[in-house]
Amino acid sequence: MYAERVLSGMRPTGSLHLGHYHGVLKNWITLQNNYPCLFFVADWHALTTQYDDPRGIEKSAMDMVIDWLAAGVDPTKATLFIQSQVPEHAELHLLLSMMTPLGWLERVPTYKDQQQKLDSKDLSTYGFLGYPLLMSSDILIYRADKIPVGEDQVPHVEFTRELARRFNHMYGREPGFEDKAKEAVKKLGSKNARTYTQLRTRFQQEGDATAVERAHALLNEAQNLSLDERERLLGYLEGTGKMILVEPGALLTEASKMPGLDGQKMSKSYHNTITLREDEASVTQKIKRMPTDPARVRLTDAGDPEKCPVWHLHAVYSDEVCRNWVQKECRRAGIGCLDCKQPVIDAILREQAPMRERAQTYLDDPQLVRHIIADGNSQARKLAQETMRDVREAMGLNYG
Ligand code: TRP
Ligand code: SF4
Repeated sequence: MYAERVLSGMRPTGSLHLGHYHGVLKNWITLQNNYPCLFFVADWHALTTQYDDPRGIEKSAMDMVIDWLAAGVDPTKATLFIQSQVPEHAELHLLLSMMTPLGWLERVPTYKDQQQKLDSKDLSTYGFLGYPLLMSSDILIYRADKIPVGEDQVPHVEFTRELARRFNHMYGREPGFEDKAKEAVKKLGSKNARTYTQLRTRFQQEGDATAVERAHALLNEAQNLSLDERERLLGYLEGTGKMILVEPGALLTEASKMPGLDGQKMSKSYHNTITLREDEASVTQKIKRMPTDPARVRLTDAGDPEKCPVWHLHAVYSDEVCRNWVQKECRRAGIGCLDCKQPVIDAILREQAPMRERAQTYLDDPQLVRHIIADGNSQARKLAQETMRDVREAMGLNYG
């Protein structure tokens, strides 16, 4: 009934690094070519853990959007916006909060995990507990069905599905639904009405899925039903209400295998990153200073690439010829480590060149970014307002 739509959000953490590029952004860029996509800055989400120091969020958000654009996220293909600029997210969050069981929130795995991990902060707040619900609102308000997320976020998507189901079940019934459905059954004619009723019973009592299929076929062939009546009978058949909110599914993004400068995974908290648009001299310096196999003290000492973080970067950036060269020459001390690092330096600089160039356009004219975001905000808002109209109506809050 609703179109396919991808939605993903990212917390504004300041400058992104090559791990984000290889893990998330490349994936977004593929998706934007295949689906309508919405990508947003989750600035309210940042507040759930950073409420004590919110001042830097706006700058981080702008820097992050420039990084998206630099990486190749294309504002003519995807809608880019900022969560807090679409206040409908908050309205849906509030309305859903009324019907969200506390236990569901307390059982989300990241709740206790994050509280323990970030134990220097007081995270026993209402907002932090409600964070998965805020994420659900982000998703449901766009009726997005495809949510690219890392593994840690999959339970949140699952939570969102349950919530959508609960909402549809509770409010997806128009007043007098049962009576209206029975009226519509009569319009099928006595023979078909009997068959429909039998199939419905078979499904509801025995869970027989073929009964649903046959009933669908029957409804499709029924001539004298209006669209509304057909919808009602579909809902009546399965015991669900009308679908107001769409149940989303997770598109699992593989965890980034991008190694950092020390061989651990690249991550801001390990201080081992290269940022997306880092200047050339700094990239060169960082790679030149990278530790190598500790056994190679002198040029004449043979090494083992498996024990060397530079090798992990070759695995990402070098072709087979180059990798074979490293394997062979390292093991027989045929090259020095600086020789070995040069192709990695070149490859990273080559990868970054178009990013730096694209970013420059936006740095030269910050108005461009503001316009992209303003456009995105209003496109997103339009979609969000459509959903909110249906939600308010379903809950009897439209005061029309
Ligand atoms: N919770 C996500 C994170 O911390 C960010 C996010 C917020 C999100 N809302 C979303 C991701 C909606 C996907 C869809 O990484
Ligand atoms: Fe590492 Fe290359 Fe030096 Fe071998 S030659 S230790 S792989 S940097």
